[in-house]
Amino acid sequence: MLLKIYWPKQVILVALITVSLCSCSKGKSSPEDPTIVPNPEETLREKYSKSSAQWPVAEWYKNIEVRELAALSDNPSKDKVELIALGKALFFDPRTGNGLKTCASCHNPDTYWIDQKTTADGIALHHRNTPSMENVWYLEGKLFHDGRAKTYREQIAEAINSPIEMGGNTATLPAKLQTRAGYVSLYESAYNNKNMTIEGLLDAIAAYSKSISSGETAFDRFVQGDYQALNDQQLEGLHLFRTKGKCINCHNGPYFTDLDFHNLGYAVTNKGALDNGRFESSKLESDKGKFRTPGLRNVTNTAPYMHNGTIATLSELVNLLSQGMTQKTGQQINGILSPHIQNLRLSSKEQENIIIFLSSLSSESIKTERPILP
Ligand code: HEC
Ligand code: HEC
Repeated sequence: MLLKIYWPKQVILVALITVSLCSCSKGKSSPEDPTIVPNPEETLREKYSKSSAQWPVAEWYKNIEVRELAALSDNPSKDKVELIALGKALFFDPRTGNGLKTCASCHNPDTYWIDQKTTADGIALHHRNTPSMENVWYLEGKLFHDGRAKTYREQIAEAINSPIEMGGNTATLPAKLQTRAGYVSLYESAYNNKNMTIEGLLDAIAAYSKSISSGETAFDRFVQGDYQALNDQQLEGLHLFRTKGKCINCHNGPYFTDLDFHNLGYAVTNKGALDNGRFESSKLESDKGKFRTPGLRNVTNTAPYMHNGTIATLSELVNLLSQGMTQKTGQQINGILSPHIQNLRLSSKEQENIIIFLSSLSSESIKTERPILP
């Protein structure tokens, strides 16, 4: 049922003037859609109870590609089940590395594919926080926090060989697994060929990795037309995320990431040493301290945050973002802070609503059965 509210003429006039002043004074790069005629009588829920193309105009910084938030898209990875099965065995097998750690030691399926640690605890202590495995197919070409791995083969070989992750050896892995009848038969089902190669093994792990997706969320139901799926606070949070909070400038599309790199001013390891981020692989001075925008699906379930795990909670992070990422005492910004990180002065209520909106991006954890190791 729609509740019709009658406003006195003066109120409507003031509201109309305010709306028109706002839209011309900002000079944003977004094309203001002439079909969106703001109606001051509409409630926020009415404004959002439409296809996302008709939502209130978001606040885009200049020169940012306008890209609306969107519902979860289909996982396009359609690898052969036998290839995925081989990859799954390798993912959970300590023999893929040096016998101590598995991929799942850090990317634990029971806790949204993370280890819940500040930085990963591998063969030695890592300087970076473990990201989730959900939706990694979407990150193709830009894997790791700094996007340095262009292919899954490259990324997985690094994890296996890294002395701070699995301490293994990809050069000897095929020969080692070739002696296991169970692996030979898994490999043959995947490739119709018994002779293992390292590329074959890495591609199987990649196929399994890419098959891992997050599930449907309240936000997805909302975007698809169930306009009660978000509660009032979540709706306020969605609006702030797209407007005053400016979050949508970097966190956009179906996975809430522009897949680009930005400097948020916390480019240090948890021991206080500088982490140059994107610069390490690009060697461009302008990339110093930049990291890939992380997706935000299930973010409520994957604390602690940032490439270095130094931010423990969402409220701590949103509070920092709201103040333009003020630095800790004595902490220097490594590189140049993104011009899109500004003092937004979000009130504590606004911050809370954004955080509650982020919880609408959570899906249920899907139970992953451990494979029987060959
Ligand atoms: C010791 C813990 C640990 C182990 C073991 C481990 N990882 Fe990771 N993984 C991490 C960390 C930490 C990062 C981020 C590293 C960085 O950005 O430099 C990461 C990054 C990734 C990424 C990139 C995700 C993104 O958001 O860019 C993928 C995919 C991945 N790991 C898969 C695997 C696979 C497959 C294995 C097993 C072969 C594995 N990992 C083993 C901790 C681990
Ligand atoms: C200029 C681009 C930009 C803007 C604007 C921005 N973010 Fe981010 N966000 C990033 C990047 C880049 C990171 C990762 C930084 C790192 O690892 O050091 C990040 C990290 C995060 C994380 C941590 C995710 C994780 O898994 O560690 C959350 C949550 C987050 N942002 C939410 C928000 C919210 C809410 C807003 C709006 C108030 C916002 N961001 C605005 C680029 C941005």
